Amino acid sequence: MSNTTVTVTDQGLTIAREGQTARFHALWLRDNAQDDATRAAGNGQRLIALRDIPRDTRVSAASAEGDTLSVTFAPEGKTVAYDLAWLWRHAYDRPVSCDSGWVASEFTTWDSGLSDTMPEADFTAVSTDPQAKRDWLAGVVRYGFGKLVNGPVVDQALMQVVDLFGYVRETNYGRHFEVRTQVNPTNLAFTGLGLQAHTDNPYRDPAPTVQVLYCLESSAAGGENMVVDGFRVAERLREENAQWFEVLSRYCARFEYAGEAGVRLRSRRPMIELAPDGELIAVRFNNRSAAAITDVPYAQMQTYYDAYRRMGEIIDDPAMEVCFRLEPGECFVVDNTRVLHARKAYSGAGTRWLQGCYADKDGLRSTLAALEESL
Ligand code: FE2
Repeated sequence: MSNTTVTVTDQGLTIAREGQTARFHALWLRDNAQDDATRAAGNGQRLIALRDIPRDTRVSAASAEGDTLSVTFAPEGKTVAYDLAWLWRHAYDRPVSCDSGWVASEFTTWDSGLSDTMPEADFTAVSTDPQAKRDWLAGVVRYGFGKLVNGPVVDQALMQVVDLFGYVRETNYGRHFEVRTQVNPTNLAFTGLGLQAHTDNPYRDPAPTVQVLYCLESSAAGGENMVVDGFRVAERLREENAQWFEVLSRYCARFEYAGEAGVRLRSRRPMIELAPDGELIAVRFNNRSAAAITDVPYAQMQTYYDAYRRMGEIIDDPAMEVCFRLEPGECFVVDNTRVLHARKAYSGAGTRWLQGCYADKDGLRSTLAALEESL
């Protein structure tokens, strides 16, 4: 960083090195001071509020030396040292994406082409080796799902998976739920039930952000699991018809679950959720718990239904799905705000027993970030 030069400007200052420049506002710099009077040394939390910083704060002097930028602020007369590498990492003077539906660079969207390289790891390795755990969690974040194999075949083993990265989210279905099917060949109608790919529990607010499905028995043929990248679905819908993407992101759908006494879960959220700057942040899709849609203007309802139908067709397209079979001791973890999952139909005799639970991705991402820092 020794070749960084600094110029004081009316707004604040500009730093430059190797043909790159970054402008910073005086208020931004003062607000992000890292000195002991601004930030607590132990936990890094900010000790002051914006009201403690004068509105007319400006840079009165600045100089760069080695890895450090030294800035003096008026009217406080306070001098603060900044780590130049930190400043370059946090530079905001760059073009920002404002396309509707842009996907953050930390995510890679995928279709069936991912099948050969789906994120998969060994349960024991991930449980004992921090690097293996880091790599697996990074895959879960990047692709929105990940499989673990060679795990224990014992009741509640899925809790050991959650313990790897976070905490169970308990719901009215309990800390975990059973997905147990006796496949009876004399009643094939019952076994023919495949499920359309969906995100779980869109009727909750917030929806569970992580789901774990753990296999304990699997002697029935069929019943493979499949996943679809909802972000890729949204991208494809937008490429095919921008207006369809627009109505599904602009207007809220409604979801409801009232299947047991004392429970009336309802939410009002779009099927494609964008941040205010257009970033694609979540997909909700579940035919079984969709409630009457009442928040789309009359003039837009036909278009909305065209868009909703097409989104379902894209989800159902085999070119979008990654399929895998879960054997006893295997599980998968899915980002339920992005990746849809489904189970294919069963055939033949046998049993299938899975246990599922919810958790949250803030914990998963925190575990990953802490591992990345320590490694
Ligand atoms: Fe599900």
